[in-house]
Amino acid sequence: MIAKHIEQLAPSGIREFFDLVLGMPDVISLGVGEPDFITPWRAREKAITALEEGLTSYTSNKGLFVLRRSISRHLEKKYGLKYDAQDETLITVGVSEGLDLALRAILEPGDKVIVARPHYVAYPALVVINGGKVLSLQTKEEDNFKIKPKELSTLLKQNPKAIILNYPSNPTGVTYSREELKEIWKVLSPKEIIVITDEVYDELTYEGIHCSFASLDKKSRQRTILLNGFSKGYAMTGFRVGYACADKRIISAMTKIHSFSMLCGPVISQIAAAEALLAQKEVKQMRSEYNRRRDFFVKELNRIGLRTQKPQGAFYCFPSLKNFKIKALDFAKGLLMKEKVAVVPGTAFGEGLEYYLRMAYANSLDNLKEAVIRIERFISTL
Ligand SMILES: Cc1ncc(COP(=O)(O)O)c(C=O)c1O
Repeated sequence: MIAKHIEQLAPSGIREFFDLVLGMPDVISLGVGEPDFITPWRAREKAITALEEGLTSYTSNKGLFVLRRSISRHLEKKYGLKYDAQDETLITVGVSEGLDLALRAILEPGDKVIVARPHYVAYPALVVINGGKVLSLQTKEEDNFKIKPKELSTLLKQNPKAIILNYPSNPTGVTYSREELKEIWKVLSPKEIIVITDEVYDELTYEGIHCSFASLDKKSRQRTILLNGFSKGYAMTGFRVGYACADKRIISAMTKIHSFSMLCGPVISQIAAAEALLAQKEVKQMRSEYNRRRDFFVKELNRIGLRTQKPQGAFYCFPSLKNFKIKALDFAKGLLMKEKVAVVPGTAFGEGLEYYLRMAYANSLDNLKEAVIRIERFISTL
């Protein structure tokens, strides 16, 4: 009954592992990639008022114009990017839908998409679901898990249709400077390749300034599908609002699919998101709190032997287990059973990552301190 390519798809490594966590009391979870903050009050209040006023209808397929206009202004102010709110901006149900729409709009059966490893769990699955083939680009710990232009250029010989770039990255927290992005673009630009950028962690950049790929030059803007949303930086995961910005032909194709499959994003969430863009003070506060936790957690992980490069963004560490010669799944299971700390084995983020863990520091400093005590105790039993 089920299509072969779906039946063969492995379930998300994260979900599989967290089925184990469900129902266990007193677990400190460093597992899920979700802010522990509540959405800024002004956004929630706006949503409540909108509900009281009975604003419960569909919106236009592309989303509320006021939200699209606010996003367009926000991107211009932050990155000097100009996207027409009417034709070049689409409101999606999270970055998740944006990714799906982007791939659906551009892929023909068998088209190849470059995905750098370690990668966010959904990328390879979405490529396969949409009839594409994944070209996996392994990055290395010694390169700080960054894409090397030379290795990228070798892969480009296979004529991929697109590449997905995610920075700051889930699961490594690595990001790229403008200069590094220019080096990547130098290799990509001679090819007819579409660059899908997942910038959902842009607000959570602690070192340097986030550079949007589309802002590199005129041609990069034409070839980029910029995806972003409110889940992480604005602590709005449950509202499910994202957006896509791109050349109007691409946005028109994505809108066509979206109008048949989704109709539109949820209206109350869109109203809340427009208000959230005004909550920059709260965003800054959350960022500086994550930064404080990052400093503490990275230092402690290195002290107890979990070698970790300092992430520059998002809210993840990706420590190596090579000091301990224990595989990530065994480590994660043991740590959960013995010390009730949940972390994600690196294998969830691609092949060849058996000796890495992902730990999210989107948790209170007190919980992080307690987690370190428990992890250290667990390590002493190895
Ligand atoms: C890199 C990355 N992209 C996209 C998403 C999904 O975002 P959204 O909630 O906007 O669908 C996540 C969520 O963890 C993520 O880490």
